[in-house]
Amino acid sequence: MSNAGPVADTRVDSDIAPFDFEHLYRSAAGDASVIPWSDGHPNPAMVTWFDVIGPGLLRCGCRVAVVGCGLGEDARELVRRGYDVTAFDSSQTAVDWARRLDPANAQSYQVADLLELPAALTHRFDLVVEIYTLQSMPPSWRQEMMNGLSSLLNSRGHLLVICREELPDEPCSDEPPWPVSSQDLVSLASGSGLTMDGSLDSFDDDQDPPVRRLRGLFRNA
Ligand SMILES: C[S@@+](CC[C@H](N)C(=O)[O-])C[C@H]1O[C@@H](n2cnc3c(N)ncnc32)[C@H](O)[C@@H]1O
Repeated sequence: MSNAGPVADTRVDSDIAPFDFEHLYRSAAGDASVIPWSDGHPNPAMVTWFDVIGPGLLRCGCRVAVVGCGLGEDARELVRRGYDVTAFDSSQTAVDWARRLDPANAQSYQVADLLELPAALTHRFDLVVEIYTLQSMPPSWRQEMMNGLSSLLNSRGHLLVICREELPDEPCSDEPPWPVSSQDLVSLASGSGLTMDGSLDSFDDDQDPPVRRLRGLFRNA
């Protein structure tokens, strides 16, 4: 993926071209309506999780990382809820944009590559929130991405993943999103030393037509 740093070329699937997020954000020139995943609101499945499960797992002030934060809708919601949020994205344009939308918390947003995390971010977070980034990368990058997600967690930390679910007999696509099956998600987590905490939710989202999603919570095995 061209915005993922200098080693990107060596990780690209031979038959799948990576998506250039930085180019998309830059071309949008400040018009959020052309960013397909951005509607100005936090992810509803994340909000429900924080309403129902979050309070039993996290206290106010817990350290939460928002991975691939884009324009920062999810991060702003978590700041509003009182968590100590670090939101990062590999796109400088996205991070600048998110900061402009939340100037009071501009220091919460930073440029970082999940595949080349700075030491300051690793082993630090009580919760890592990953929404739609895993599915945006060529499938052969997923284990490395999951390794990055796992390395963000402190020893008692949890990882919340929300992604598009791969359905049986779904045709392969050249473009993201590349949906993830429930088996693959569990196996990727296990390959990075994580185990499921509770069960995976498979649900239709509120889009028209609805999109099948997975939501799962993981912790160190
Ligand atoms: C499909 S968007 C989802 C954005 C946001 N999570 C949401 O749900 O609205 C994927 C995001 O991941 C970011 N991204 C892609 N590769 C990344 C990487 N290696 N490290 C950090 N962020 C990355 C992109 O720039 C983009 O903002």
